[in-house]
Amino acid sequence: MATKITISDIKADIGGFVGHSSMHPDIMELANDELKKAKGNKIVDFFVARVGDDLHLIMTHNKGVDSPQIHGLAWEILEKCSQLAEQLKLYGAGQDLLVEAFSGNVRGMGPGVAEMEITERRSEPIVVFMADKTSPGCWNYPLYKIFADPFNSPGLVIDPKMSKGFIFRVYAPRENRYIDLQTPEESYILLGFLGAPNDYIVDHVRPKDTDEPCAVASTSKLALIAGRYVGKDDPVLIVRCQSGLPAVGEVTEPFANPWIVPGWMRGSHFGPIMPVPMRLANPVRFDGPPRVVALGFQLADGMLGTPSDLFDDPAFDDARDQATRIANILRRHGPFEPHRLPLEEMEYTTMPGLMEKLAGRWHESEKQQLTPEQLKEATGLEMD
Ligand code: F6R
Ligand code: MG
Ligand code: MG
Repeated sequence: MATKITISDIKADIGGFVGHSSMHPDIMELANDELKKAKGNKIVDFFVARVGDDLHLIMTHNKGVDSPQIHGLAWEILEKCSQLAEQLKLYGAGQDLLVEAFSGNVRGMGPGVAEMEITERRSEPIVVFMADKTSPGCWNYPLYKIFADPFNSPGLVIDPKMSKGFIFRVYAPRENRYIDLQTPEESYILLGFLGAPNDYIVDHVRPKDTDEPCAVASTSKLALIAGRYVGKDDPVLIVRCQSGLPAVGEVTEPFANPWIVPGWMRGSHFGPIMPVPMRLANPVRFDGPPRVVALGFQLADGMLGTPSDLFDDPAFDDARDQATRIANILRRHGPFEPHRLPLEEMEYTTMPGLMEKLAGRWHESEKQQLTPEQLKEATGLEMD
């Protein structure tokens, strides 16, 4: 039986430089040094990456998903990085490590996790997408385009392996339950859910003839875990490509359109997501706009090697320009919707406090909204 390899990305915001905009180089260096010590024993290979103020520990290993050893290693390193962040007085040091002690699995403890156990193919191209200043549902749009939209992925029409379609697992974080939906048969039903990314999030996608996923996303919502605003979740997505799966060019194509995601300043504004190489992943303007980095790895017997920084391509310049133009238009709305998120989606609001403070200053109005019965009595008209 072919050996399996697991690719895990465990990530957290352990402190920003400066503010929430970027990462201090010493933090990356420390994470590198620590993972180097684990290479060859606990893990096969690693790459330390970042997007904005989020540190990503990308690791390959033979321990499967949800391994306490791998999660423990990542937790230990994130804690050490947080301690260094505190020494450097970085902003929000340790903000994503919500609990004091590790208890076997980082899920539910603050960090974001995406991991998949796979049988490495003859050639195994993998893309790791990392986003900052937005939330996990942001992957719904590109995942639908990649795996279900033939206008994005011609392979769905002309590659017989892809034309069988895929299974999407959709997770409802508030209810903590999931549903599996098949494409193309159920694509309209699927879109009904994916179009509401605050409530329904793609957990993974898999081909119909295997249990091995071809895409996995982080789905944790920090606010639901902590019960208060603790920053946006800044999610990760891992996608396998080529040879019966979408090509690297199909997987990156949705990002040529800077669609609108929630997040940005104070996790409370809609803004365009801008595809950038890692060196440009510094969301400064109004703490944004949200960024996404795509690192391409060509797995070789579990070795990650050096990634290709896929959005370091002038063909994405126009998406970056468009994102800036959209950002300008949205910014002009200031504190008004639809730039500012609707009240119930804002993770950061003074409204409950305001309502309490102003409770005694509200007066019953004499302007009455008529009930259907009152309307009929007054006008003889009947509502449908
Ligand atoms: C967004 C984010 C930032 C902060 C903002 C205010 O996810 O992290 O936009 O919300 O910089 O931060 P505080 O309240 O820490 O000053
Ligand atoms: Mg931050
Ligand atoms: Mg962040």
